[in-house]
Formats: sequence, C-alpha cells, structure tokens
Amino acid sequence: MKSKRTDQSSSAVALVTGATGAIGKAIATRIASAPGYEVVLLCRDAARAQAAVADILQRTGNKRVRHELVDLSRRDSITALAERWEGSAHVLVNNAAVTPRRREETPEGIELQFATNVLGYFWMIRAFRDHLLESAPARVVNVASYWAGGLDLDDLEFERRRYDNDAAYRQSKQADRMLTVAFAHRLADTGVTVNACHPGDVVSNLSRNLGFGGHETPEQAASTPAWLATEAVGAQETGKYFERHRAVSCRFGANRDAVEVLYRRCAGYG
Ligand SMILES: NC(=O)c1ccc[n+]([C@@H]2O[C@H](COP(=O)([O-])OP(=O)(O)OC[C@H]3O[C@@H](n4cnc5c(N)ncnc54)[C@H](OP(=O)(O)O)[C@@H]3O)[C@@H](O)[C@H]2O)c1
Repeated sequence: MKSKRTDQSSSAVALVTGATGAIGKAIATRIASAPGYEVVLLCRDAARAQAAVADILQRTGNKRVRHELVDLSRRDSITALAERWEGSAHVLVNNAAVTPRRREETPEGIELQFATNVLGYFWMIRAFRDHLLESAPARVVNVASYWAGGLDLDDLEFERRRYDNDAAYRQSKQADRMLTVAFAHRLADTGVTVNACHPGDVVSNLSRNLGFGGHETPEQAASTPAWLATEAVGAQETGKYFERHRAVSCRFGANRDAVEVLYRRCAGYG
C-alpha cells in the first residue's frame, strides 16, 4: 500500500522520528507551527502516534500533520516505509532513541541501542536518500548529544565489553555525530545537507533509564533541532555539530579515518 500524502504540493514535507517522545513531539510541534510545513510523525505505536497527531493539531492548528508506523530498530521496516512513501521529503529529523537498562537485541540479533540510535539513523538516511535528492534542497537533522564518547569500533554491540546502558548510549551519540560527517561528505553538492545537534536535557523515558533528570522543557530542547530543520542555517551548513544554535567543533567528526570505518561497519548491516 502506498503512503498517503496530502494534496498541498507547495508545502515542505518534514519527517520526525520518535515524535511520541518528549523532544520529538516538541520538535514536530515547532515545525508544524512554522508556515508551510506538512509534518509526518514516524512512530512505532499507532495509539501513541494518533494521540501525538491530535495534540499537535490542537496546539498548532496545522491540519497537515499525520503519522506513519515504522520500527526504527529494524531495517526491513524502514525500507518498507521508504518504498511506500509517495511525494517529497524535504526534512528528515532523526531523533528516536532508547536506553534499555539491560542488554536487549532486535529479532535480527542486533543490540537494541546500536540498532535504534545508530543504525536507525543510518538506515533512514540511506532509505530516504532518493526522496531527499528528488526534493532538494533538503536537509537531515540528527539529534545527538553532548553526552557522547567511548565508541569502540571493534565492539559496537557490547559483545566483548560488559553492557552498561550509559556507556552504550554515549557510544551511540558519538556515532550519530560521526555519521553526520560521513553522510554530509557523501551528499556534498547535492542540495541535501546533514547536521547534528545537542537538543537539551529534559526528563523523558530515555533520561530516566539513564538515571538523570533534565532541567529544560521539551520546548527548549526542541529549539536547536527545529531551528536546523526550518531556518536557512540548516540549508547553508552541512557536516556540523550544533549546541544552542551555535556550531561547535566536534572531535569525533574530525577523525575522518574513524568516521569512514564506522560508516563501513554500519553499511555491513545492510
Ligand atoms: N532527554 C534528554 O535529556 C536528551 C539529552 C540529549 C539528547 N537527547 C536525544 O534526544 C532524542 C529524543 O530523546 P527523548 O529524551 O525525547 O526520548 P523519549 O522521550 O524516550 O522518546 C524516544 C522516542 O523514540 C521512539 N522510539 C524508540 N524506539 C523506537 C523504535 N524502535 N521505532 C520507532 N520509534 C522508537 C519512542 O517511541 P515510543 O513512544 O513508542 O516509546 C519515542 O517516541 C534522542 O535522540 C536522545 O538521544 C535527549
């Protein structure tokens, strides 16, 4: 079945993953509030997705908000979504992430944080590459974090190291920042930009699992990702990492050898 698209072809189409969560819903709301956007929430649970759509409609008055179901930890589910997608994709916000306290695996046997937080971003960009190119100028915003580091290219799934959800999370956010550089390089001069950012620290399922409580509101945390998604800066810059509306140098992205090894390792998952 082909994905439905509303008939206002002049609008920009923005996809937001994890839009039932604290920050993702606030990002989707901010984009839906901007003039001329159709917003598609990419979610895994129909009831939560419908509730988020209704809430955003009520807050913004934008009737061009809808959802599509996808499991972002599974390549087949992402590929199926991209294949049934009709029409444009001008903005892709990769935001969905998990932080399970115990090591879990997808049905395909991939550690769940790596599958969702890293491969989910990787597969979404690859699956929607042609849609983004056809819609160019287009942009990808990868929601990462300043809380990043400890990536082991030889143990991406915590098979050799003892699993710790904070360590796996920091690794995944480092990987998101590195893949931003890898994709920006590959999409240079195509009209598709790829940037990463830290949103802000908020209380959410994700942060509760990690044992920290954020001090910012979801609306504050949505500010930098939504700015990159809708304002000129997100089209002018590529391969950058932002915090609080400012480009910040990223030592992870600067290590081009490691960036390329990570890209190849991710590509090895199909
Ligand atoms: N919270 C913070 O303080 C903080 C700080 C820095 C960066 N970040 C980043 O901000 C982003 C959002 O975090 P958050 O705090 O808003 O988390 P959250 O409230 O826990 O939301 C996570 C979202 O991801 C979705 N999701 C998880 N696995 C999925 C899957 N397999 N398929 C589809 N959707 C899936 C969840 O869907 P369900 O509703 O179905 O569970 C939910 O919508 C993450 O990338 C995180 O790394 C957060």
